[in-house]
Amino acid sequence: PITPVVMAGGSGTRLWPLSRAGYPKQFLVLSGNTSLFQQAVTRLQGLASPTQAVHPPLVVGNEEHRFLVLDQLRELKAEPSAVILEPMGRNTAPALTLAALQALEGGQDPVLVVTPADQTVTDSGSFNRALTQAVEAAADGTIVILGITPDRPETGYGYILASAAEGIAAVERFVEKPDAATAARYLAEGSYYWNSGMFVLRASAWMNALERFRPDIASATRAAWAARKIDDKFVRPGQAEFAAVPSESVDYAVMEKCPGSPAAIRMVPLNAGWNDLGAWEAVWQVAPKDEAGNSHVGDAVFADSRNTLVHATSRLVSVVGLDDVIVVETADAVLVTDRARSQDVKKIVNRLDAEQ
Ligand code: GDD
Ligand code: MG
Repeated sequence: PITPVVMAGGSGTRLWPLSRAGYPKQFLVLSGNTSLFQQAVTRLQGLASPTQAVHPPLVVGNEEHRFLVLDQLRELKAEPSAVILEPMGRNTAPALTLAALQALEGGQDPVLVVTPADQTVTDSGSFNRALTQAVEAAADGTIVILGITPDRPETGYGYILASAAEGIAAVERFVEKPDAATAARYLAEGSYYWNSGMFVLRASAWMNALERFRPDIASATRAAWAARKIDDKFVRPGQAEFAAVPSESVDYAVMEKCPGSPAAIRMVPLNAGWNDLGAWEAVWQVAPKDEAGNSHVGDAVFADSRNTLVHATSRLVSVVGLDDVIVVETADAVLVTDRARSQDVKKIVNRLDAEQ
């Protein structure tokens, strides 16, 4: 069988002030009519296999967001197979481990189609074709990652060196979040892809790779799993045990270490209009715009302004004579930034956290 897994427990600080600890970006409506989390779930509903059963999705999120998760699933009329609630964030490696342990419960070893909840994809046909290919390739225990052709030296992504441009490629190298100079070099070399953050792998393949590279995370997460409490669809790992799990991403814990090791890893290219809505600049990029390149959500008026994004929640926002800016208005905080600097919003969040 195939089990879709949605990882939805991140904090999304670069989209402050709209994205908050209690209401992070994956639950916001930033493009289209549904939230990024809902888009992730809907995308996976399109998964079909002629030979294998597709289970309802498994959601791994944070206890704090359980009502957001439930309400948003209900809006879609999507019944999850389970919602695993982490008492605190320990990044994606423990989150995926919980999902794998849940998937292994029934005595089966499903192929997990793992996806982040903070992305948009415009071409669902290509998306489904790439995933079908990935599911086939993962059947024998191979870890399959979906690669995106890069168009800028982005430092917020993982980079994959892969040996073929079409079909399934061998992964020669995986480098998570390189510095700017390294990212620029990879882009110039031309044989690198971005990691989409989507992974397709058998639950047992993940557990084996984790045992090999990070046995500490594997055993600490198993202990939290053994202490879990089940309440209908909610599964809660033991709080004290989960607090002791090392915090690490899937990418650093396992993916970087697979190439050249016995843990087989391959890549399927994904050309499906993929976008990671990491910062406000990306929201502007995917948003519908007028002839002047302006885009708005909520009430906005522009005069002699170009390529500007307004996101207004409670008041009318007007912009005069400014180009390439982002204005985000909420009831208790307003952000004004140059589009080119929108990654640095996290500096504001860090400063506010430090002052608290
Ligand atoms: N359950 C759970 N628990 N989910 C989490 C946690 C956690 O502690 N931390 C993050 N997530 C979720 C986020 O909500 C998001 O949907 C997904 O996992 C990925 O986490 P991010 O924190 O957004 O990762 P990233 O964007 O920095 O990097 C990853 O994605 C890039 C592509 O968007 C990496 O996989 C990169 O290699 C990749 O290029
Ligand atoms: Mg992300």
